[in-house]
Amino acid sequence: MQHLDGTMPCQRHTGRSSPHASRSVLELNRDAPAYICAVRILRVLQGVSYWVIEDPVEIAELINNNVTREWETDIAGTEDHDGRAWLDSLPERSWRLERVRLTRVRLDQGTMNYSDGRTGYSFVERLVERRRLLQRSLREFGIVIWPLVLRAEDRMLMDGYCRYHTLTDMKVKETFAYVGYPMGERFNRLSSRKPASRRNIEEYYRKHDDFRRYAMSNERRVKQLSRLYDSNRRYFGKRVLDIACGGGVLGFLVEKHDRSYVGVDVNRDMIGMARAHAEMAGSSNRFLLADATREVVGGSFDTVTLLGNALCHFDTKDFARLVGNVDPSVGRGAHFIIDYRDVVDLLYRRKWKSKLVERNKGMVTVSNTTNCDTKKGNLAGVSKWGDGTNRVEFTQAIWAPFIVELVMESRGWKLIKREEHSDWPGWLDIYRKS
Ligand SMILES: C[S@@+](CC[C@H](N)C(=O)[O-])C[C@H]1O[C@@H](n2cnc3c(N)ncnc32)[C@H](O)[C@@H]1O
Repeated sequence: MQHLDGTMPCQRHTGRSSPHASRSVLELNRDAPAYICAVRILRVLQGVSYWVIEDPVEIAELINNNVTREWETDIAGTEDHDGRAWLDSLPERSWRLERVRLTRVRLDQGTMNYSDGRTGYSFVERLVERRRLLQRSLREFGIVIWPLVLRAEDRMLMDGYCRYHTLTDMKVKETFAYVGYPMGERFNRLSSRKPASRRNIEEYYRKHDDFRRYAMSNERRVKQLSRLYDSNRRYFGKRVLDIACGGGVLGFLVEKHDRSYVGVDVNRDMIGMARAHAEMAGSSNRFLLADATREVVGGSFDTVTLLGNALCHFDTKDFARLVGNVDPSVGRGAHFIIDYRDVVDLLYRRKWKSKLVERNKGMVTVSNTTNCDTKKGNLAGVSKWGDGTNRVEFTQAIWAPFIVELVMESRGWKLIKREEHSDWPGWLDIYRKS
């Protein structure tokens, strides 16, 4: 397969002259290895094949390193203030792979109208040739292209003018795009924080717990979540965002009730299982690999969920950030559904098991709680298995209803329903956005 990028980055948004103004499509192809280095997946959408990168961290790396270099070259020697501002904002953006409708993409008029009287170069004229070539390559050779690059705040097309026009000519309605969300001051602070340790979460769900318990293959989990959905159906709107979605069980249930669904999880094992099931079942649910405390999921949602005691992975600060990150995607009247273990109550009643011995296929895992940190608000523990040299350390946040409510209230969510959990000692809370 061949990569053909029909874009002229130098014309992206400046409308100014550039040393590369006449690069052809095929020359650009030689510049492509920047993209090719990244971990990529082949996806087909409306008959067009794309190489996509799904992990927001990898997309950010790609944009901040390789793609930026290309942009840098393109505006070098020009007085392109707009281009400079855009370039400088890149590291402060959080990137998503998204499916976007082409009608929602905006074009920069400076780019479209660009011409150079000296060389006779006209962007629009050159585009006609390039899109014809790209269309032929797509139709006849089935080449694979890359997503567009969009600025989230105004859906302005920053890279991919040739791809955009070619797809429009072909009457394609939807395409893939890397969408860059500005993170602002609040997010700058977040981005300097150490990323949540993915490997640790993955280890935790391989050794301490079993990630497969959160997949469709686990009938028990399917029944539990069906029950939860059935008794709270009226709080589920048309568009559901499931944070820490695990294997996406909730998504496959709500989809049957004609609801759209996006699941987010930081764990590759979980997202892998969810996507595999979605593919097998022909589901249109979307699953994103992302840290919910650091990333904002684009889109609009009526219901947000955080289920299966996923709250135990978030201390109060992380949880407040997570809830804040949801803000841009919900409106007044949206619902937030959370279930969680009441650790304060368990400790008081001496029901917190500080030593747990579990047997799985002949292997014994012993987990011990080693510390209670009331300043951070968590219990620390370690699980050991095999001969005891294999170990994973973990923390479990300490939650109780009054703390959850306080955080939710501070972010504008009002408690409208609270009931004891039917499956374990804890609570199911429902909040409404005011
Ligand atoms: C107990 S599982 C619950 C899965 C699912 N919600 C369910 O109810 O079946 C908790 C999930 O939280 C996810 N998780 C932990 N930290 C996260 C983070 N920072 N961002 C997104 N997901 C996270 C884990 O990977 C895990 O899949």
